[in-house]
Amino acid sequence: MSVDQSKNAEDLKTFMKDLIASTDISYEQSQNAYKKWVNVETDHYDRLHRSPEYNAPRNLMNKLTELIPIPGEAKVLDIGAGSGICGELLLNAGFKKADALEPLQEFVTALEKTGFYAKVHHQFIGGGTRINADNETYDVITSSGAFCPGHIPVDALYEILRVLKPGGYFLNAMRLEYLTTADLYADKLVPLTKRLEDQGKWTRVAWDKYPNHFMDFDGILMCWKKACA
Ligand SMILES: C[S@@+](CC[C@H](N)C(=O)[O-])C[C@H]1O[C@@H](n2cnc3c(N)ncnc32)[C@H](O)[C@@H]1O
Repeated sequence: MSVDQSKNAEDLKTFMKDLIASTDISYEQSQNAYKKWVNVETDHYDRLHRSPEYNAPRNLMNKLTELIPIPGEAKVLDIGAGSGICGELLLNAGFKKADALEPLQEFVTALEKTGFYAKVHHQFIGGGTRINADNETYDVITSSGAFCPGHIPVDALYEILRVLKPGGYFLNAMRLEYLTTADLYADKLVPLTKRLEDQGKWTRVAWDKYPNHFMDFDGILMCWKKACA
């Protein structure tokens, strides 16, 4: 790595740390932040998120392969797919029918080139948006690092439930403290997940805390199973 590249990599790390430390940023601000780094330094963004400093995708995949050791024909939707790190892990684990959902055009273009996903939906989820998928399409929905400030609103859970098949799993790996500090989630995300449990829409399979979700921040791997019809 040249001196310039190494400085850029350090700048990106600081920038990401600052970005995710802002618990009240808007969707537009967070998307503009990604745009800057994807346009200027796609490579550094991808490399940082593949480094041992970012452990959300690996934790999520460990749980998924425990739940579904033989992927077979399982259909997966990876929401907030970013640069495709989960897509690559999914493919390596034998999930050949994974689709991605990602709102940022720059990431969508990059994702389409990787070939990790069968289909890439250029869309966001939440805020009342209906995503381009029929009811009960997916066996698994994954979200790695996409429940962040200025990212996926909590009403996305209704859309996730709509497109999950009965008995399907939703796995969400997110930074633990956002449950209580992020404007989007504090007093909203956990209560809604519990309401959905009380209504019999899904059951909780796991809430596992893990270290170093991103850098020195703890993460939580949350998993639910949609009720069988
Ligand atoms: C921190 S990145 C994580 C990327 C990837 N899942 C990973 O673990 O490397 C979060 C991604 O979520 C996307 N995102 C933000 N808001 C979203 C929304 N409402 N619906 C879907 N994706 C969203 C961002 O554009 C970004 O690509």
